[in-house]
Amino acid sequence: MAKVLIATEKPFAATAVAGMKDVIEGAGNELVLLEKYTEKAQLLAAVADVDAIIIRSDKIDGEVMDAAKNLKIVVRAGAGYDNVDLAAATAHNIIVENTPGQNANAVAELVLGILVFTVRNFYNGKAGSELMGKTIGILAFGNVGRNVARVAKGFGMNVIAYDAFCPAEAIEAAGVKACASQEELFKEADIVSLHIPATAETKLSINYDLCNTMKKGAILINTARKEVIDEAGLLRLMACREDLKYITDIKPDADAEFAKFEGRYFSTPKKMGAQTAEANTNAGIAAAKQINAYFAEGCTKFQVNK
Ligand code: 3PG
Repeated sequence: MAKVLIATEKPFAATAVAGMKDVIEGAGNELVLLEKYTEKAQLLAAVADVDAIIIRSDKIDGEVMDAAKNLKIVVRAGAGYDNVDLAAATAHNIIVENTPGQNANAVAELVLGILVFTVRNFYNGKAGSELMGKTIGILAFGNVGRNVARVAKGFGMNVIAYDAFCPAEAIEAAGVKACASQEELFKEADIVSLHIPATAETKLSINYDLCNTMKKGAILINTARKEVIDEAGLLRLMACREDLKYITDIKPDADAEFAKFEGRYFSTPKKMGAQTAEANTNAGIAAAKQINAYFAEGCTKFQVNK
């Protein structure tokens, strides 16, 4: 019997936790829960005797792994795994997995939802504009990017995309115009929606020069990671380009400085893209099943630290 910990600073919906409990206990494993913890010490204590951990954006570093003497597998219930120290996991012989695609629709719906809110002037009653006929540029055409394309088409938007790792033919096969480069995407789009992971290559890559090529009145929407934005550069640009807007569901470090651009900046208080009961259930249950499959059959299909 494996002991499985769900450790979430930002908890899953209760229905998702109930479903995960059924899946884990149904396979003869044990579930323990650490929700809304505020101190790392609570996490370090909770991991002491567990075999597996399910997390969201929770940080799992070498210190946590050192404290988790029995730990064999960490599953990030979600897409991005930049919160897990993969090198430390490999050094500790710990498998790290994610659950790709399981929360993608929730993020896509949030993108279009915040966009409507933005182009209607944050519902302040003044005449706004519409999304139909506007060009949305999707940076990275993974599960979230593809879902944004699907929903944006429903709004009658022109959809273009660029992905450094996805061939143009695969983008075009989804009925989306493929751009030849990130630079072309930024120049052509009325709205740029970021769906890149935070990696050594992408961190700080959305910078002053790139954003300055955006069209007059353009909107930059970030539901990916705050680390990809060069915040100092974007602040400098927004100070001289009074037409640009920055919208995000990940509060920037420089939130107070961005907030000075009234009417051109919006951030949700917490990362909310994947915060739906459906996304929590899809990602959480997928994570629970992956853990069962690992302990029952040694399955590591979704391992990201190979
Ligand atoms: C992801 O990478 O899956 C999303 O950013 C969602 O993250 P969250 O589970 O912390 O909301």
